[in-house]
Amino acid sequence: MHVKSPLRIAVALTMLAFGASACSSPPSANTGAATTSASATSALYDASALPAGPLGQEIRLGHDVIDNPAKYLKGDVTANMTCSSCHIAAGTVPRGASLAGVYARFPQYNKRSKRVIALQDRLAECFLYSMNGRAPAYTSKEMIAMVAYLAYISRDVPVGAPKAKADSFAVTVPSTAPDVAKGGQLYTQKCATCHQANGAGVSGTFPPLWGATSFNNGAGMAKLANMTGFVKYNMPQNAPGTLSVQEAYDISAFVLSHPRPKFKGSALMSSPPLPAKFF
Ligand code: HEC
Ligand code: HEC
Repeated sequence: MHVKSPLRIAVALTMLAFGASACSSPPSANTGAATTSASATSALYDASALPAGPLGQEIRLGHDVIDNPAKYLKGDVTANMTCSSCHIAAGTVPRGASLAGVYARFPQYNKRSKRVIALQDRLAECFLYSMNGRAPAYTSKEMIAMVAYLAYISRDVPVGAPKAKADSFAVTVPSTAPDVAKGGQLYTQKCATCHQANGAGVSGTFPPLWGATSFNNGAGMAKLANMTGFVKYNMPQNAPGTLSVQEAYDISAFVLSHPRPKFKGSALMSSPPLPAKFF
């Protein structure tokens, strides 16, 4: 789902040069440019340098499932999106909803379900909300493969280590209400070429931002602060880092002012058989 640009390649090469410390970020991480860095050969994931044998194959499958879940888990995905639509390059890009180190942060207390959850539960959560779908069985090959991949891109991160600041897209949003009309104007200028005026994107190339094929209202990205941070650091995809927080805030409020699918709490988690409303 990437638009290849010389910038991306240059930054990916910079990352390779710092490949020895997979969990620290390159020195330019606080510039907008480094936020769009990774490719299939980022320092975190290089398909040609995986462990040999079945584990390496499983890690590769996990990467491929995250890059295109509908291909492997057809019935579990209804949004016309991949995990990489938000977790850029399968979660290997600092501030691009990075998944680096995530394996070291589970089990953890989950506010939504008010209980301690495993990494599989967290993956299930993104299936239920972000993919507007259903959770794959925890013992399925695909689920285990995703966990293997996430463990792999978390190697070198000590168990219990908090998310690295340089990986997070968190921003402090303005305390004033967003200007949705201004956000609409900016959307037309800076986003519509790819995501289209109607927000539906271009199937297989540019993910939908709202409407029937987008993530549902319970998704993390449906929270204004999250989208503001994501957009600030990663969008427009061809010029990331060029928007102020205020602009990203106004545009995100405009995007979120449109309808999107509603989460169906009656959907069942497949295994364990818990009602999805627990999440
Ligand atoms: C619509 C955007 C979107 C899509 C699509 C999406 N996610 Fe997420 N995901 C998020 C956001 C936002 C968060 C919260 C991230 C944060 O706070 O940094 C998140 C969090 C996560 C986490 C926990 C990360 C952490 O640091 O604790 C995991 C694991 C995860 N997602 C996996 C997936 C998988 C697997 C898929 C595909 C099946 C997926 N996500 C699809 C937006 C998305
Ligand atoms: C050059 C094309 C392009 C432009 C311009 C662009 N995007 Fe994106 N956007 C993408 C692509 C491609 C992705 C998927 C992630 C990736 O591969 O970088 C994406 C992902 C997203 C996502 C997360 C996935 C989703 O569907 O919700 C959001 C939110 C988003 N863009 C918002 C914006 C906003 C807001 C603007 C304008 C400020 C914008 N984008 C401009 C190409 C673009």
